[in-house]
Amino acid sequence: LRIAVLFGGRSAEHDVSVLSATNVMRALEPAKYDAVPVFVTREGQWLLSSFENGTLAAPFSGTELCLVPGGHGRMLAIPASSAPHDLPRIDVLFPVLHGLHGEDGAVQGLAEVARVPLAGCGILGSATALDKDIAKRLLKAAGLPVARSVTIDEGAAPSLAELEEKLGLPLFIKPARQGSSVGVRKVSASQEFAGALAEGFQHDRKLLAEEFIRGREIECSVLEDTEGGLFVSRPGEIVPAESHGFYSYDAKYIDKDGAALKVPAELPPEIEDRIRETAAKAFRAVGCDGMARVDFFVMPDMNFVINELNTIPGFTDISMYAKAMAASGVSYAEVIDRLVAHGLA
Ligand code: DAL
Ligand code: MG
Repeated sequence: LRIAVLFGGRSAEHDVSVLSATNVMRALEPAKYDAVPVFVTREGQWLLSSFENGTLAAPFSGTELCLVPGGHGRMLAIPASSAPHDLPRIDVLFPVLHGLHGEDGAVQGLAEVARVPLAGCGILGSATALDKDIAKRLLKAAGLPVARSVTIDEGAAPSLAELEEKLGLPLFIKPARQGSSVGVRKVSASQEFAGALAEGFQHDRKLLAEEFIRGREIECSVLEDTEGGLFVSRPGEIVPAESHGFYSYDAKYIDKDGAALKVPAELPPEIEDRIRETAAKAFRAVGCDGMARVDFFVMPDMNFVINELNTIPGFTDISMYAKAMAASGVSYAEVIDRLVAHGLA
């Protein structure tokens, strides 16, 4: 089975995607899969890459790739200085891209147009889950618990006093369509507010002001089978180092000791059950299929809210999706087999 693994990409999580895709490539068993790594540049060009000694190599300079509309996996190589030619047809497209233009339905739509099976979540769930504003509305409409928030459109920001009245302090300002905590700021005092808005608006035209939930970060992996049934992993916990205050981009990927993973999380069994049930409901409510990681905050009194869903969760060394699945008896290789089977079904 020939599987094209897309990585890199146009979003602010480009570097995270490279880390994720390296692990996905390592987990693709050569006996089963002929994996073709495709590097997506920050400008969105697809370049043919290669995987050697466990590392994604620099792309073959200038050899652009394109998936042919209606081509059922037909892929063209377009070298810089010679004529385009066909590559062997791909059977499955596996985007390991995070954030806009990769996790938001765009590439999923391309797979549909190219009529090639897709590993992971489809167009609708990708688009809704990536937009924290839309996702929250759907979760709320399904009666599921989320943190209180106010959506802020560019040019129409409320005052901090208004937000404080609704959400209290501190609060978080986050771009609606970003991942890995890019552009997220905690605001505890008025002098931090303008900077937080400016930072957020660098990443999106729409922001969320969200109440600060003093709680533990708990995450569940959800994987759909070919019959539409959901496998929900045992929850894992992310314990950010005190010095980081919250699970920021730096705590995630820059500081090696920025956070520790505890899988499975220590939770009373009935709370674990409720969280797993809620993860499945959230997956459905947002319109997901295939795969997603559902992130929660669990408060000291064991009440919890859903923070967000990630339809292409990180597969980096410090990421939870594969670890929570492994702790639930599903190995990394098995996750990939199931994702591919789901795409082919
Ligand atoms: N957005 C990052 C990759 C994650 O959710 O794991
Ligand atoms: Mg995210």
